[in-house]
Amino acid sequence: MPKPVDYDSVASGYDRRYVEHDYPGIDTTLRGCLSSRQSVLEVGCGTGHWVQRLSALGHAARGLEPSAGMARQAYARGAPVVRGRAEALPFAAESFQLVCAINAMHHFADRERFVHEALRVLRPGGQLLVVGMDPSRGEDAWFVYDYFDGTLEHDRTRYPGTATIGELCTSAGFVEYNARVAEHIRIEKPATEYLASGAHMRSFTSQLVALDDRTFEAGIERIRHAERQAAARGDSLVLQADLRLFATIATAPLT
Ligand SMILES: C[S@@+](CC[C@H](N)C(=O)[O-])C[C@H]1O[C@@H](n2cnc3c(N)ncnc32)[C@H](O)[C@@H]1O
Repeated sequence: MPKPVDYDSVASGYDRRYVEHDYPGIDTTLRGCLSSRQSVLEVGCGTGHWVQRLSALGHAARGLEPSAGMARQAYARGAPVVRGRAEALPFAAESFQLVCAINAMHHFADRERFVHEALRVLRPGGQLLVVGMDPSRGEDAWFVYDYFDGTLEHDRTRYPGTATIGELCTSAGFVEYNARVAEHIRIEKPATEYLASGAHMRSFTSQLVALDDRTFEAGIERIRHAERQAAARGDSLVLQADLRLFATIATAPLT
């Protein structure tokens, strides 16, 4: 059974994910939710990548993060981050025009509580944006799911799908919601390259962080085996990903 991700232990390598990809679709989605100089809260902001990005765009951005290690990385880049949890936002009512959770909601212990808290701190007409995968749709392909035992099953249980997020929002009092693909990630990586950087990959891929060492090593050995089989055929193994990140956007009532 995969364990909860200890973000303190992966904090120093986490930003490697932003060297591998720059997530233009998330950037466009955030911009689309905001007009000029608005107040934004990112819940589960990690190392502050998006908080810093929103600040650079001229918005009054704040981040909330429970992990001391991740928050330390955010402070180091000058991102205004406070420690806390999604289930009890330490902010006054009607403080923000946008509350977002980017690749984070599947970690929250009580999603219903978070959605109520988001509505409380949003100004009338403000928006909640949740970005995340929806593995229950069965549309994604990922070598991580193919080679590392239990990762797909674990993702299917922990990621709230867009319909679930939408229902939580309307039950909490949001007036409407919509969901769409924000980011379509396609990766083709030679297995040799992946194996050379496997330790780094583990630090920013929560599906792999959650595995015990034995299961992780068994997955790596499976890739090596497939690579040897490909080499015996005079071929080389290419690892592939075809993943979608969805944006679910819910609107708070005007009064
Ligand atoms: C995959 S990281 C995403 C970080 C950042 N949003 C990004 O996209 O780079 C998930 C983050 O959610 C945080 N998290 C976990 N449980 C949380 C909770 N209950 N409330 C707020 N954040 C939480 C973790 O500490 C971690 O930093």
